[in-house]
Order: sequence, then C-alpha cells, then structure tokens
Amino acid sequence: MNRRQLIGDVIGLGPHWLARGNWFADHPARRLPPAADTLAEEPAGMPTAAETPPAPTAISAPAATQASTSAPQLAAFEPVAEAKRPSPTPAMPTKPLLGWAELEKAVANCTGCRLCETRTQTVFGRGNPQARWLIIGEAPGEQEDRQGKPFVGRAGQLLDNMLAAIGLDTERDVYIANVLKCRPPGNRNPSGDEIVACQDYLRQQIEHIRPTLILALGRFAAQTLLDSTDSIARLRGKLHRYQGVPLIVSFHPAYLLRNLPDKAKSWQDLVFARRTFRQLIGE
Ligand code: URA
Repeated sequence: MNRRQLIGDVIGLGPHWLARGNWFADHPARRLPPAADTLAEEPAGMPTAAETPPAPTAISAPAATQASTSAPQLAAFEPVAEAKRPSPTPAMPTKPLLGWAELEKAVANCTGCRLCETRTQTVFGRGNPQARWLIIGEAPGEQEDRQGKPFVGRAGQLLDNMLAAIGLDTERDVYIANVLKCRPPGNRNPSGDEIVACQDYLRQQIEHIRPTLILALGRFAAQTLLDSTDSIARLRGKLHRYQGVPLIVSFHPAYLLRNLPDKAKSWQDLVFARRTFRQLIGE
C-alpha cells in the first residue's frame, strides 16, 4: 500500500480508485441488492454491465479508441444518444465578459443575493484556468467557506482521488468550480434567486476556460446546468451540452461518501468521461 492509499484509508476514503482487470465483475457493489432509493433512481434505459449498448454512441470514434482502458464489461456503458434538452439554453443575462482577475474580484465583492450576508468569503474556483476539464459542483460547504476554495473537505479529497484515478492532476489538468460561489447557511439547498444571481459568474468562467469537457457533479449542478428536472440516474451515461460545451453528469462525491456501492457507477461515469474526452481531442 502506498502513502496515498494509507492516507485514504485513515480518512475513510477507501476502497481506492484503481482500475483493475475484471474489477466490475468482482466488485461487492455488483453482488449487493440495490438500495431502495438507488433502485428508484435507475432509469429504464440505463445499460447494465451485462447488456449491450441500446443505441449508437453520440460521438463516433474509431473502435480502437473506445473503451480501450477499461475492464471488458465497461463496453456496455456506452454513451447513449445525446440527451434531449427540455428547453433551449437557460435564459442568462448577458453581461460583458470581464477579464479573469476582474471576474474574480467581482465575485469576491458580490452582493447579488442574501448569501453575501452569511458567507465568510466567496469561493471562486481552484486548479488550472487553462485546463481542458471543468468540474462543477453545487456550492461551498463549511470548509470551503472557511478556506475560500472549492472541494477542500472530505468530499474534495474523494474528488481528487477519483480524478487521479483517471490520470488527472487537480492542479494541472482540471479547473474546479461551483454553481454558487457562496455557502448557503447550514448547507441548505440553493434557492432559485441565488442561482440566478450567480449564474453569470459561471458562464464567464466557462467562456474563459473554454474546457473540452465539463463534468457536472450531483443532482443540483446537473439539473441547474441542463435546466432539467430529470433524476441523476436519467442524466448519467449521456453526452449533454452546456453553452455548447460537452457535459457529462455523475454523482456528487459527498453522496458517494454516504453511498459506497454507487462508487462503481461513478467509476463507469469517469471512464465514460475519459473516453469521451479522448475522442473529443482526437486521440
Ligand atoms: N460540495 C460542492 O458541491 N462544492 C464544494 O465546493 C464543496 C462541497
């Protein structure tokens, strides 16, 4: 066991995110009956490991680039046809594009909603603003509000671990941000007016970063970005778009900390995202 794994064990983040041959067949999650809430979340069309893909892939790529890095069962988790958007791009106030530093300053001084009254500080993002992966979560929690960076608590450690498992370095290869830049008190769900007040900041961040692929984590981020009320289970496994940028949905790491069996599905999402990314950059 290496040092990273040891630390992971100590902070309760095991099992470790290492791709192994036949991993899915052996994983305990495959032998457990699904929890009632996971069952309810499962969409009718979601391919299981044993099924063949129900539809052609949204991105066509040479067979050699498909599922080349995964266990054989993962071939069943092909991207299905691009998700239908329930409505056109969400209405967004189009403010002039600020420079990156100006944007950061605008966020830091924002008084656009009531969250400015209770926050310790705003949380703009972390990672490489030139990265080709953009990871989007929900909103800062207690630790993030304290430290001014997204995903720095236990969920963040798991996220870094997950990204490392598909070969992504969080300082170099990804930028991580949230839909909301301020912590909702007591980590309550963000309200509609708070989302509206904040949405132009994320739009501008995306315009600057111009990522190749967005990974939306959790129901809130996914539904907000896709202007959808579909369950996370319905939104997973498809290639969506946000502001024209390809977007893939997966579980929120905080949810995974409470629902370990769904780590297997999350791993499928990550492999799908990595494969899609490689196709998008023509590898
Ligand atoms: N959860 C989120 O969605 N974002 C964070 O930054 C931390 C926890």
